Amino acid sequence: MAILVTGGAGYIGSHTVAELLDKGEEVVIIDSLIKGHRESILGGRFYEGDLRDGELMDKIFKENDIESVIHFAAYSLVGESVQEPLKYYNNNLMSSISLLNKMKEHGTKKIVFSSTAAVYGEPESIPILESDRTVPKNPYGETKLAFEKALKWADEAYGIKYASLRYFNACGAHVSGKIGEDHMPETHLIPLVLQVALGQREHITIYGDDYATDDGTCVRDYIHVTDLADAHILALNKLNAGGHSNIYNLGSGEGFSVKEIVEKVREVTGHKIPQVIGERRAGDPAVLIASSEKIKQELNWQPKYESISKIIETAWNWHKNHPKGYKL
Ligand code: UFG
Repeated sequence: MAILVTGGAGYIGSHTVAELLDKGEEVVIIDSLIKGHRESILGGRFYEGDLRDGELMDKIFKENDIESVIHFAAYSLVGESVQEPLKYYNNNLMSSISLLNKMKEHGTKKIVFSSTAAVYGEPESIPILESDRTVPKNPYGETKLAFEKALKWADEAYGIKYASLRYFNACGAHVSGKIGEDHMPETHLIPLVLQVALGQREHITIYGDDYATDDGTCVRDYIHVTDLADAHILALNKLNAGGHSNIYNLGSGEGFSVKEIVEKVREVTGHKIPQVIGERRAGDPAVLIASSEKIKQELNWQPKYESISKIIETAWNWHKNHPKGYKL
């Protein structure tokens, strides 16, 4: 029996595939390779294509005994989603609904969904609980929340069980050094600061230093990509054991400011990191920190990478050995 991983050639998808292969699971991957990288797939059976391609999906379900799905395939640029909302509704929501339809048709009853902290919008309190209000501030978060709701109704009507994992700031790279973060364009803080360390950028622009935080810069909750990957497997195991549908936050529970991250990168790399204070970026909440108590208690999830320096070290190891990402 196989696990279908959609978006398995993406950043978090490829790290999850690596963990699944390590555990001896049979893995089937579908990825359009629009954002993903063929080289990041360390094993399993790969299909290139789109979730909205009904014929391809039928073929995948017929050729493989798909028992469950881990669904990552999505666009994930918050800014772009504001500029081109329909692209996000189309690619993120409509393709997810197509996937769910195919699961229903082929009798696959378990799905772990890659959701996001962006479903909360401006937090009502810190740390953020799964039960807090969800008011996304951008189409990216809206499409993820809309699919969470579709999952709830699909569970009630068809008995498709789901776990929705709301990630905070995914970062770091696989300990083997074989796979890591390679986005085009790159918008995330840690890889951008590492590009400064590599001399590929002159400086890092800090988006605002007048927030109501200790040093005036935004605070985020950074979580290692392998710890995220492990959480997907625990969530799937729970569903396999007959667990009911659920929603979990995934973060470290600890916040670091942008300035603190830049300083940590200086310490880890030993390089000078020139920094420039820029304007605030639209839509950035001052502080986002998860409560991950629920997943710790219910699924016994425990992050292995608890130190931000260790997390940055894994990312640095990837970036310095792959300065051009997978193109090297
Ligand atoms: N930042 C800078 N300079 C940069 C890039 C980022 O100062 O060049 C700051 C941002 O303003 C933010 C922090 O660094 O305060 C982290 O920014 P990222 O872009 O790395 O991550 P975000 O917190 O914006 O985004 C993450 C996920 C999204 C998710 C979002 C939820 O990457 O997928 O959290 O709010 F939608």
